[in-house]
Amino acid sequence: MSQKHFLQFRDLARSELDYLFVRTRIIKERFKRYEKHHPLSDRTMVMIFEKASTRTRLSFEAGMQQLGGAAIYLNTRDSQLGRGEPVEDAAQVISRMCDVVMIRTFEQEVVERFAANSRVPVINGLTNEYHPCQILADIFTFIEHRGPIAGKTVAWIGDSNNVCNTWLQAAEVLDFNVHVSTPPGYEVEHERAGLFGTAHFEQFADPMRACAGADLVTTDVWTSMGFEAENEERRKAFADWCVDAEMMRVARPEALFMHCLPAHRGEEVTAEVIDGPQSVVWDEAENRLHAQKALMEYLLLGRIED
Ligand code: CP
Ligand code: NVA
Repeated sequence: MSQKHFLQFRDLARSELDYLFVRTRIIKERFKRYEKHHPLSDRTMVMIFEKASTRTRLSFEAGMQQLGGAAIYLNTRDSQLGRGEPVEDAAQVISRMCDVVMIRTFEQEVVERFAANSRVPVINGLTNEYHPCQILADIFTFIEHRGPIAGKTVAWIGDSNNVCNTWLQAAEVLDFNVHVSTPPGYEVEHERAGLFGTAHFEQFADPMRACAGADLVTTDVWTSMGFEAENEERRKAFADWCVDAEMMRVARPEALFMHCLPAHRGEEVTAEVIDGPQSVVWDEAENRLHAQKALMEYLLLGRIED
């Protein structure tokens, strides 16, 4: 059987995701009870970071340790990865010395090429195109607070970036809808988002219309890592795409607010919303740990009945 990877959200089928959401809950409950859970003892994860991170590094490193394994951090500044060693060669070598690899990099193509030459599972820890681990945790968070996401409506306000693309893929796999509102010129690019069709999303010029009746309102930074040169231009273009109390008011009364973090209060979201009662951003961040532990366990050991 070919090696299983998690490079984009649709690499997991709905039945696998349903299993992972159940497993995440079990793993989280055990963690809260301080119960030892070491299914990955003697296993090693290599984490490769070509961009900055707080949550992704911490949740993978702590998660691997909590599962009984070890995690090794590599970055491009102090390894040969930043000095032009071919991705294919690095994949051959790294995957002979560990059991799972997580990569945060720029182009999606890099993780695809790495995975094609890896003997072990590869997990996408964020690329310019996708952030699948984030949406795994976000959907688990939605389920924890509100139950199944199928049939629900998610409003995405702001940049059609890696996190937005991943929500759109997730909507296709898990059968919910995404209302996207971006400034002109920043609309969703179907091919880049890796979508099968358009049945699960709708684009709105007006962010208020995108939020109307939504079960979840979510956003992200106006300028993602790697696009810093566009910062000034984006600040002007995105000025009206700030999630505020008015947008939350037209969503459903029980609507949640999510943000993958880090956030910029006063840019993509007001302090009132992100620090308000509908916001679940801290649960969302914590759930990165639990969801990724379930993911690593599944990629290395398959389904577990304990
Ligand atoms: N949300 C997220 O991936 O955060 P970091 O960039 O801190 O890892
Ligand atoms: N879209 C953001 C997410 C950071 C977690 C970025 O790529 O910088």
